Amino acid sequence: MKPYLKEDEWSIIEEGFDQEKHEISESVFSIGNGHMGQRANFEETYSGETLQGSYMAGVYYPDKTRVGWWKNGYPEYFAKVLNATNWIGLQILIDDVELDLNNAKVSNFVRELNMKEGYLQRTFTAELTNGHQISVQATRFVSVAMKEIGAIEYQITPLNFDGHLKVVSYLDGDIMNKDANYDETFWDQVSESAEGARASVTVKTKKLDFVYSSMKETHVFHGEDSIQASSSDTKPKYAESSFAAPLTKGTATTIYKYAANVTNRDHDKNDLLDAARTVLDKAIHKGFSDLKTDQAKVWSEKWQDSDIVIEGDISAQQGIRFNIFQMNQTYTGEDARLNIGPKGFTGEKYGGSTYWDTEAYCLPFYLATADQRIPRNLLVYRHNHLEKAKENAGKLGFTKGALYPMVTMNGEESHNEWEITFEEIHRNGAIAYAIYNYVNYTGDKSYLGELGIEVLVEISRFWEDRVHFVPDKGVYMMHGVTGPNEYENNVNNNWYTNRIATWTLEYTLYALDYLKDTDESLHQKWLNDLQLKGEETAKWVEIIDKMYYPEDQDRGVFLQADNFEDKEIMSVTDLNSKHLPLNQNWSWDRILRSCFIKQADVLQGMYFLNHEFDIETKKRNFDFYEPMTVHESSLSPCVHAILACELGYKEKAYEMYLRTARLDLDNYNNDTEDGCHITSMAGTWMSVVEGFGGMKVRNDQLILNPFIPGQWHSFSFKVVFRGSRLLIRVTQDTVEVINETKQEVDVVIHGETYRINANGILQLNH
Ligand code: BGC
Repeated sequence: MKPYLKEDEWSIIEEGFDQEKHEISESVFSIGNGHMGQRANFEETYSGETLQGSYMAGVYYPDKTRVGWWKNGYPEYFAKVLNATNWIGLQILIDDVELDLNNAKVSNFVRELNMKEGYLQRTFTAELTNGHQISVQATRFVSVAMKEIGAIEYQITPLNFDGHLKVVSYLDGDIMNKDANYDETFWDQVSESAEGARASVTVKTKKLDFVYSSMKETHVFHGEDSIQASSSDTKPKYAESSFAAPLTKGTATTIYKYAANVTNRDHDKNDLLDAARTVLDKAIHKGFSDLKTDQAKVWSEKWQDSDIVIEGDISAQQGIRFNIFQMNQTYTGEDARLNIGPKGFTGEKYGGSTYWDTEAYCLPFYLATADQRIPRNLLVYRHNHLEKAKENAGKLGFTKGALYPMVTMNGEESHNEWEITFEEIHRNGAIAYAIYNYVNYTGDKSYLGELGIEVLVEISRFWEDRVHFVPDKGVYMMHGVTGPNEYENNVNNNWYTNRIATWTLEYTLYALDYLKDTDESLHQKWLNDLQLKGEETAKWVEIIDKMYYPEDQDRGVFLQADNFEDKEIMSVTDLNSKHLPLNQNWSWDRILRSCFIKQADVLQGMYFLNHEFDIETKKRNFDFYEPMTVHESSLSPCVHAILACELGYKEKAYEMYLRTARLDLDNYNNDTEDGCHITSMAGTWMSVVEGFGGMKVRNDQLILNPFIPGQWHSFSFKVVFRGSRLLIRVTQDTVEVINETKQEVDVVIHGETYRINANGILQLNH
């Protein structure tokens, strides 16, 4: 698709209304605040193609599984984030003609997502079927300062007539998920009320008892004059207030709608309406303008910590800010019960559930840009699911240990494709790796003794149970797995899975030793609580020593799995480009038999365990696998971009970066209407900071190996590291590090260690 969004450093801008692109824009212009979020649906009626979507974080539904052929071990349900009450709705009637952009003549249409201040705005002129022309400016946001509040300012100015306006401001809780397995609604009625300008709707999920109340108040002004509600009404799961106001040529009539959205995740279910009333009163007391000022203030603080500036390439600048904005909209980290769905609040696909994406791709972003509590909560989330992960292992027939689910909302597996549910067990390794990543970055080793060790031991026990010994060969193996490359299933000895398994065992042993050395009584407590005996850890040592890894020693590469090289080895460039993407053009059978790789697999291991391999080994593996990789997972290019930077493959690094940076803005994969690829946006951030910036943390030191693509004048990024906040700016000639905090910090740049004083600046030539 031809790019249609205007380039701008701080905003996403669409000029002109193109109905064909409306659903894509609904995804791209989505807004969220970690507690709730929604697609950029119009407030007024729209009878054209639209995907209505409003979501409350953590409110989900266990939709009964639907499969062609049931297999023992499949989960009973697929958890789905719930499409919930539409609180933005405003029906606008002008001299009895309904405003609907599907049948009005629309001009001067501009839609803007202001990322600097965190709001969505739309302006347009519409000529209705009765010839009346109006100009409209609609602004809305979900507040980051008051998480349960959403606010709208909707301004209508008649251009060529005097007349009458009728506004019906409503809450509609009768909403269905588009992806419902059995076409049923997931919400039951609880109560509705409407009195004057205020109304509320409370609904409850048919299963699991999530209760959600939305309460709104609407204020209407003709010029400065306040207009009272003329009537109010309710029906099941629905409540409205109506207003009748004069319309005077050239004078704006303004509608303010404030909505409080509360659930029994945060309040007692019997107090929901009181809770909504309290927060709504507070918001109204502040008023739209102050709420919007607070919004800008909190967003400015977020940008302080997480902004990336790219000079000399507006399109790249817009792309990276969009990704950072979406990450910060999706997960704010105060609530350890929440996580990051691959589509965030922008669509229903992937059920809003948690994947290994969080640990493998998102964690680094929050580690480097947010307070330590926030990434820690992502670890606590998995710790809270440990019992369920143990049950999950038990359900699949394991005698010990924990297998975290591939897809989950509450700790239970909710995915049902055998090759993923049963075989993509490498995800367990990513969950262990995230603990290492957090401890390595923050230096907070206390996490190991508090919660981390329990998770590590149980994952290690799973690996112990999952490998088998082959006496004739004297080695341990792991058969019947799917690696990160989902274009090859049921393989034996996926190198990445074997290695991440033994790495987990190594790290768990390290963590146990660390506890023993630093706090013997805590160490003893864990040995007792976990019933961990010397024979068990001795077994782990044996598995580490005797694990088998497929390798081609002549070529000097690790093999993705046994017999990988017996496939017909080809390069993506040997394919007719009409066959790409393979997942839309080839049968699944043909894909599985081919050598083509969906996403980093061996190379995922080289990225995670980067320090274990010398540069030549990384190069040989990259040179072998990258040409076969089709990058049909949006999570793929970032890992390749980072490795390419390290290997000095500058063109390749930039090419890979471009594939992730504007994935949704330019709708590369032709699927943005389903929602944005939120978790891969974290990968884009990684490409810049860990790729071009070459940032790593080793032995408690922050390391940078920056290089700058020829297309850019400069780029800069911020990282928080152990109490310091650093601004790193790279130009074609220089690297500059500004210490924005009052504590000195050591940084290793291109192999040399430099001390940067409190509020000091270091400047070097490349
Ligand atoms: C990828 C997985 C990923 C999932 C959700 C799939 O296409 O292959 O690695 O976890 O998408 O993003």
